Amino acid sequence: MPPGAPLLEVEGLSVSFATAGGRLRAVDGVSFSLTQGRRVGLVGESGSGKSVTAQALMGLLDAPGVQVEGELRLGGERLTATDERRWRTLRGNKVAMVFQDPAAALNPRMRVGEQVTEGLLVHQGLGRAERRRRAVELLTRVGLPDAGVRVDAWPHELSGGMRQRVCIAMALACGPQLLIADEPTTALDVTVQAQVMALLARLQAETGMAVLLISHDLGLVAEWCDEVMVMYAGQLVERGPAARVLTRPRHPYTAGLLASLPLPGERRERLVEIPGMVPDMRAPPSGCRFNPRCPRADERCRAEAPAWSEEAEGGHRCHLPLSEGT
Ligand SMILES: Nc1ncnc2c1ncn2[C@@H]1O[C@H](COP(=O)(O)OP(=O)(O)OP(=O)(O)O)[C@@H](O)[C@H]1O
Ligand SMILES: [Mg+2]
Repeated sequence: MPPGAPLLEVEGLSVSFATAGGRLRAVDGVSFSLTQGRRVGLVGESGSGKSVTAQALMGLLDAPGVQVEGELRLGGERLTATDERRWRTLRGNKVAMVFQDPAAALNPRMRVGEQVTEGLLVHQGLGRAERRRRAVELLTRVGLPDAGVRVDAWPHELSGGMRQRVCIAMALACGPQLLIADEPTTALDVTVQAQVMALLARLQAETGMAVLLISHDLGLVAEWCDEVMVMYAGQLVERGPAARVLTRPRHPYTAGLLASLPLPGERRERLVEIPGMVPDMRAPPSGCRFNPRCPRADERCRAEAPAWSEEAEGGHRCHLPLSEGT
């Protein structure tokens, strides 16, 4: 891969599912690239297509009734959704993923040490003693207390935070260039969340891998990521450096998400939410998908879908972007 070339390029990615109520286009024309060593956040309300995007990046959409379009290049190599053999090699080795629920991600009938190095077995053909040694090393690296003993534990013997550390160790076992973390701390309590995010930050810095952090939590993403991508109803609606997106959003949807964040030190019973609901993806609104909920929408927004506008500090998909002071 030439130096400075993007690690991952996604062009016009669309994913649709056959459902009882018709075709559901969960991801619609998503394009972006990720550079090595960057921490990029993907935010948006529930159902906006974040996890389906992640599944596409892991080659996990080769199933009946699922249609994937667009182009995906990893390290310059063009990949298609149906190339399962190739994906099997790439998963773990080049791209790995950490999921929301560590309990569900682990096999309850397998000791954690064995799970951590399961990938090594497939990918690097190591012997038993060497695998155990590697497992202890990896579990130590992710800060699992008494890793030398816990390597032989069953998943149910560990706390939620410990289990997520095991999942992170598993994801890192083969040294991936891209780690996708889909709501990695949502199932954990607040103090453990902070520890897990600090661990991910340390590992990202040590390895230089790129991280795509998927989250509902714009506050977390703003704090943790270099860049933010905002997704709404299957489309990217804004992207830019985290510092800019958080302070000077261009898309009214991003501004709405920010308004629903509690300010530092502020305690609220309930978050202020953006009025209205995420559209039914079997029949999205015409024009801009956000128009029924947008305080700025006019005739054009209802009639014409905005194209992506690239700007100096990112880009957006809006006819009437916010500017400073509006
Ligand atoms: N296998 C599937 N079959 C049919 N529809 C699906 C499938 N997987 C996802 N969807 C639909 O695709 C849309 C996007 O789902 P996705 O899981 O990507 O949302 P998300 O942004 O990750 O939401 P959350 O924040 O709740 O995790 C939703 O409408 C969901 O119901
Ligand atoms: Mg999701």
